[in-house]
Amino acid sequence: MAASKIARRRFDAVIVGAGGSGMRCSLQLANAGLNVAVLSKVFPTRSHTVAAQGGIGASLGNMTEDNWLWHMFDTVKGSDYLGDQDAIEFMCREAPKVVYELEHFGMPFDRNPDGTIYQRPFGGHSANFGEKPVPRACAAADRTGHALLHTLYQRNVASRTQFFVEWMALDLIRNADGDVVGVVALEMETGEPMIFEAKVTVLATGGAGRIFDASTNAYINTGDGLGLVARSGIPLEDMEFWQFHPTGVAGAGVLITEGVRGEGGILLNSNGERFMERYAPTLKDLAPRDFVSRSMDQEIKEGRGCGPHKDHVLLKLDHLGADTIMKRLPSIREIAITFANVDPIREPIPVVPTIHYQMGGIPANYHGQVVAPNDGNPNAVVNGLYAIGECACVSVHGANRLGTNSLLDLVVFGRAAGNHIVEQGFEKQGHRAFPAEGGEATLARIAALDARGKGERVQDVANAIRKTMQAHCGVFRTGALLDEGVRKIGALAEQAQHVAIADKSKVFNTARIEALELENLVETARATVVSAAARTESRGAHARDDFPERDDTQWLRHTLFYSQGSRLDYKPVNMKPLTVPTFEPKKRTF
Ligand code: FUM
Repeated sequence: MAASKIARRRFDAVIVGAGGSGMRCSLQLANAGLNVAVLSKVFPTRSHTVAAQGGIGASLGNMTEDNWLWHMFDTVKGSDYLGDQDAIEFMCREAPKVVYELEHFGMPFDRNPDGTIYQRPFGGHSANFGEKPVPRACAAADRTGHALLHTLYQRNVASRTQFFVEWMALDLIRNADGDVVGVVALEMETGEPMIFEAKVTVLATGGAGRIFDASTNAYINTGDGLGLVARSGIPLEDMEFWQFHPTGVAGAGVLITEGVRGEGGILLNSNGERFMERYAPTLKDLAPRDFVSRSMDQEIKEGRGCGPHKDHVLLKLDHLGADTIMKRLPSIREIAITFANVDPIREPIPVVPTIHYQMGGIPANYHGQVVAPNDGNPNAVVNGLYAIGECACVSVHGANRLGTNSLLDLVVFGRAAGNHIVEQGFEKQGHRAFPAEGGEATLARIAALDARGKGERVQDVANAIRKTMQAHCGVFRTGALLDEGVRKIGALAEQAQHVAIADKSKVFNTARIEALELENLVETARATVVSAAARTESRGAHARDDFPERDDTQWLRHTLFYSQGSRLDYKPVNMKPLTVPTFEPKKRTF
């Protein structure tokens, strides 16, 4: 089929993904009068942001004194000094403003008796540069993401954003100059592709946690934005850094918010010992996630795990009392009853570290512009392309993200990208030159899949990828384990080229969609394991038994993975904040 046969629609901006960052960006654009299309695989309010529980970080100081510079310090230290400090300063300074803006949009935050927004402590957030925990997480009970997403959706509807629901983006379209001029997307109901031509394309596709077997992520999180960027020759940054959330329900993977520990919950080993006191004497159970996850793993490895298989620890919160649990943590109680068969008002919840968040992603600056370094310019931007939210690597999270900084990242950088796009004056400019063959490579890819008679089963290959990633890219890694993982994922990438689907119909053919998603899982898994094998140090969430120390001499730099030829390159960390002195790397203790 020739490209001219694909239907084509034109917009000022197309945003791929309707989670917190996509909808915060679209709101900014729609309000400025741009013609905006938002594509989403699911109904917008079912995007994965809806699952965020504990809060959004901002130094409002509603409970005790707080300061954006303390927030910045915690974020830099939490990132194990790999975060770019200009971007971190920008985010922490913007935080109070964006939270008050959400409040004015109507977001139903919990309230203090004086009417201010309720804030709870969260891991790694401290007062006065690490002195003691500070309540910085602005919370709507344990449903903060739900409240945020519904607020943004309602605002977008009022601003006439155009939503394309159950559409999956397949590939970027780049012209002869390398500028991005839109995307090819598939309407899931009809199975037909369409070109969304746009002056600016914004990727807001969220995380790719479904490359792992045990994950808090939704099934839609298959790395679609990462896949289409990788296929178009743009690198992926710092993909070795994946966060294990300390408290996933053992055996089920469902998230139990860090807000439980923020409210006073504690972790216990099989001796009934509050073991975090040994590992992090100051912040204890509220140390950053990489610290807590490794400590839990250590307890389990040393035989102090709980249950018949000694494979988890316990999260105790009954001492908070039924009233606090019902008021502040109602969904946690439901989750514990449904997935662990325990009522936390009376019994502890069995928990294990579970994949939760990708710190790496599509390289972007703090305006949201995608950066693809070239020989002459390490900060060269790709014209017409932005990336925001979890799929992007700005990098504000470096090697380890602090809890509550993900919702903050979505809103700060969704808004910043929207503002930057508006300032560029795209509304008044024409569309860039559109290539005659635009979309043809995608059609050929789909046609090849449809034509295949027999082949591998999609789910077999996808499950093998998840199991391999879980076994070879876990909390603790070694060179031998990672090298074996690189080999196995390489073999699975080859198998993925031969998957076939039995049902050839196009209409709402979910097997066909899963086969297309598989290509994105492959790109993401390969980038992760290759980057992890290359980084011969331990930093943040990347813990190597064979290189247990952080190595700032060699590794204070970002990795860049290029899909073509599985090639790696590097980019220095930006240690210069915008207006304040740099926080120099130090040993992390809590
Ligand atoms: O624990 C949580 O509620 C998760 C929050 C986050 O990932 O920021």
